[in-house]
Amino acid sequence: MSQNTSTAVMQRRNEPHDSLDDYPTPPWATRAFVEHVLVPELGALETDVILEPCCNRGCMAVPLAERFVVRTSDIHDYGWAGQQQVRDFLIDFPEDFDRETVPHWVVANPPFRLAVDFIEKGLRVARRGVAVLVRSAFGEGIERFERLYRGNPPTIIAFYVERVPMVRGRYDPDASSATAYVWMCWARDQPPRAPVWIPPCRKLMERSSDMDFAVRAEPEVVECPLLDEAQP
Ligand SMILES: C[S@@+](CC[C@H](N)C(=O)[O-])C[C@H]1O[C@@H](n2cnc3c(N)ncnc32)[C@H](O)[C@@H]1O
Repeated sequence: MSQNTSTAVMQRRNEPHDSLDDYPTPPWATRAFVEHVLVPELGALETDVILEPCCNRGCMAVPLAERFVVRTSDIHDYGWAGQQQVRDFLIDFPEDFDRETVPHWVVANPPFRLAVDFIEKGLRVARRGVAVLVRSAFGEGIERFERLYRGNPPTIIAFYVERVPMVRGRYDPDASSATAYVWMCWARDQPPRAPVWIPPCRKLMERSSDMDFAVRAEPEVVECPLLDEAQP
């Protein structure tokens, strides 16, 4: 049986409760979302301002900026030059924008444990809507149902047909994953409707420049007993 040497992310990431959940989104996955959902299904315009409130190293913000005006912040400074602000989206982000500065959309891959808070906050600050990339298991749960879906079901849920592998701290184009992700989207002026599927498009959506986000893991050091024994 062939062994997968890449870091696969399973259904549970086993993140400590106070973790930042540092799992960058493969850039191709955001392009696929823009191309197949955000523009054709939700009607985002190229003049719309998008806030990416947990921008990390820019893996999601950069592909968004290929089509939209993008604003960026994160609670932590990862050293990415495109990050405009260091701020806690849930606590420090103002909700009393004037009409000129309010973002049209909040688009994010938030920490899983804070995703409901990010959605609720996003709905308070965005003029047109909110879209979050979450594990498909996010659709389950009585508490989430009561707090989020029952009174305010998403406008659209978009499934990836291909897997979207995420690994901690970097983009790894060779990673694989047992975890499925979906986009949950709320558009203010649109009623809930049937889900959509993002068709196979990874190869089409990848760019050579995405490798700027890939930090290769150090080669594994393999102990060799024979060589060790030969040492004086
Ligand atoms: C799963 S990563 C996603 C990164 C990026 N959005 C992407 O898709 O590549 C989650 C990010 O949320 C940030 N974060 C965690 N709590 C936050 C908060 N309260 N406010 C803003 N950012 C936060 C982390 O620092 C981390 O960069």
